[in-house]
Amino acid sequence: MTNLTNDRLLIIDFGSQVTQLIARRLRELNVYCEIFPYQRISDQLIQDFSPKAIIFSGGPASVMEKNSPRPPQAVFELGVPILGICYGQQVMMEMLGGKVERGHGTAEFGRAYVKSCQQNLDILENWFEGDHEQVWMSHGDHVSQIAPGFQVYGTSPNAPFAIIADTDRRFYAVQFHPEVHHTPNGKKLFENFICIAGFSRDWTMGAYREQAVEAIRQKVGGKKVICGLSGGVDSSVAALLIYEAIGDQLTCVFVDHGLLRKNEAVEVVTMFRDNYNIPLIHAEEDELFLGALEGQSDPEIKRKIIGGLFIDIFQKYADQINGADFLAQGTLYPDVIESVSFSGGPSVTIKSHHNVGGLPEKMGLKLVEPLRELFKDEVRALGHELGLPESFIGRHPFPGPGLAIRCPGKITRQKLDILREADAVFIDQIHKHGLYDDIWQAFVAILPVRTVGVMGDGRTYDFACALRAVTSVDGMTADYYPFSHEFLGETATRIINEVKGINRVTYDITSKPPGTIEWE
Ligand code: XMP
Repeated sequence: MTNLTNDRLLIIDFGSQVTQLIARRLRELNVYCEIFPYQRISDQLIQDFSPKAIIFSGGPASVMEKNSPRPPQAVFELGVPILGICYGQQVMMEMLGGKVERGHGTAEFGRAYVKSCQQNLDILENWFEGDHEQVWMSHGDHVSQIAPGFQVYGTSPNAPFAIIADTDRRFYAVQFHPEVHHTPNGKKLFENFICIAGFSRDWTMGAYREQAVEAIRQKVGGKKVICGLSGGVDSSVAALLIYEAIGDQLTCVFVDHGLLRKNEAVEVVTMFRDNYNIPLIHAEEDELFLGALEGQSDPEIKRKIIGGLFIDIFQKYADQINGADFLAQGTLYPDVIESVSFSGGPSVTIKSHHNVGGLPEKMGLKLVEPLRELFKDEVRALGHELGLPESFIGRHPFPGPGLAIRCPGKITRQKLDILREADAVFIDQIHKHGLYDDIWQAFVAILPVRTVGVMGDGRTYDFACALRAVTSVDGMTADYYPFSHEFLGETATRIINEVKGINRVTYDITSKPPGTIEWE
C-alpha cells in the first residue's frame, strides 16, 4: 500500500479475468488504485487504505449461490462513491435490497448496445453518443429488481438494468464491462466516476519520482543497496531511481553469464558508465555458468543451475562491497496483485522463472522494490522522466536465463555464437522494416538438429533455427507476429548467407497458450 498519495481508489476483486484492466484505466487517468481480493477486505484494511472511492469488479460466481463472494456491508456506510461492474452490480443489488435472477437462456456475451433512458446522470455525462452506446457484456445472471433508492438510466435487450444509480448515496452500477477495449467509451465512464469522487488526479510519474525518491531515502537510511542490473527497462529504471535517492550507497551488478545477446554486455555497461556515475560491477562469469551447464539438456535443470549461480554471484559481490543490507528488485505491480483464483489449488509450474527471487531470504537482505506499485507502461513513463535513453525504454523483454532457454538441448559455446549472430540479423531486419515497436518480443532459437543443405555446389550439414516473434500485452498470452512472406524470405536468406553454421530457417507460428514464448 503506497503512502505516496492520499487520493486512493480501492478495487475489490471478485475474480473477473479483466480486473487488472480496471486498474489500468484508472492509472491512465492519473488515479492511484489498488486491487484486493474480496477475502482480504476487512474493516482494518479499509481504514488503513482510506479509499476515496470503491469499485467492485466482475466475477464468475452467482449471487444466488450459497457463500457467494461479498464485500463487507460496512463499505456501503463509508460515504464514498461506489461503482459496481457486472457481478459487482449484482452483489450490490442483492446486498442493498434488490433482486438478481438467472438468465434463462438470455445470457449476454459480447457486443451489445445500451439504450439511454434519457435522464441526466453525472456518471453518464458526454457518454452516450446519440441515444445508445456500444458496450461489452459477459453475464448469465442479471438484476431483475433494483434496490430502493436506485433508478435506471440505461437498458439493453437482455439487461433491463444495464445502468443504475442511487445519486444521493453516489452508488453506480453497470451490467457491462467499461474496462475492456470493446466498450469504446468505457474510459469516459471511469473519468466521470472519479470526477464525482473528487480525485485530484495527482498520480503522475513526475510526482511519483519525487515521492519515491523520498521513500527510498527513508527506508534505506545510510545503508548499502545492491541491485542486479540486466539492461532491461525494469532493473534500469529501478537503479536510476535508487541512485537518485541514495547515490553511491548503491552498487549495481551486471552479470554476464555468457548467455547474453550479441554486443549486449558492452551496450549495457557503456550506457551506464557513460551516462551515469552509478558504481557498477561488470561480473564476467561466463566460465562459471557455461561450465555448470555443460552437458545439461533438461530445461528445468538448466534454469535451476542458472538461478542458483545468480545467488552465489550476488553473495560474492555483496561481500566484496563489505556487505549490502538491501537488495533492489524491479518487481512490478502485476507480479504482486493477488487475484482471486476460482480454479482451486495451486497452479502447476510451467517453468521455474527466476529473476533474483529467493535471494533476500538466503542472503538475509531486505528488499527495496521501488516499482512495486507500477504497471509496465508506467515504468516506461518513469524511464522517460529519468532520462533513460529511448533505446532502453522500448527494449523487448529478455529472460534472466538468457540464451540458455533459446538453445534447446545441450549448450555449447559454438551454438551460442551461431545463435547470437542469427539473432542479431533477425533483430536488424525487424528494425530495418520498422516493426520493432509493434512486436512484444522477437528472437531466434537454435534447434538441436542439423539438416542437409546445398550452398553453391557444395553440401552443407548445419543447424536449423527458428524465428520467434510475438504480440502480447503482458507475456501471459501471445500470438505470433504476422510477418509478410517477403520479410520472412528476406530474413531467411540473410541468416543463411551471413551466419556460418545455419542452413535452414523456420518460423514458429505457435500462440501462447498452447506454446510458451521461449522455447524452454
Ligand atoms: P514464457 O516463455 O513463459 O515467457 O511464455 C513469458 C515471458 O517471460 C519471459 N521469461 C522470463 N523472464 N526470467 C525472466 O526474467 C525467466 O526465467 C523467464 N522465463 C521466461 C519471457 O522472455 C517472456 O517475455
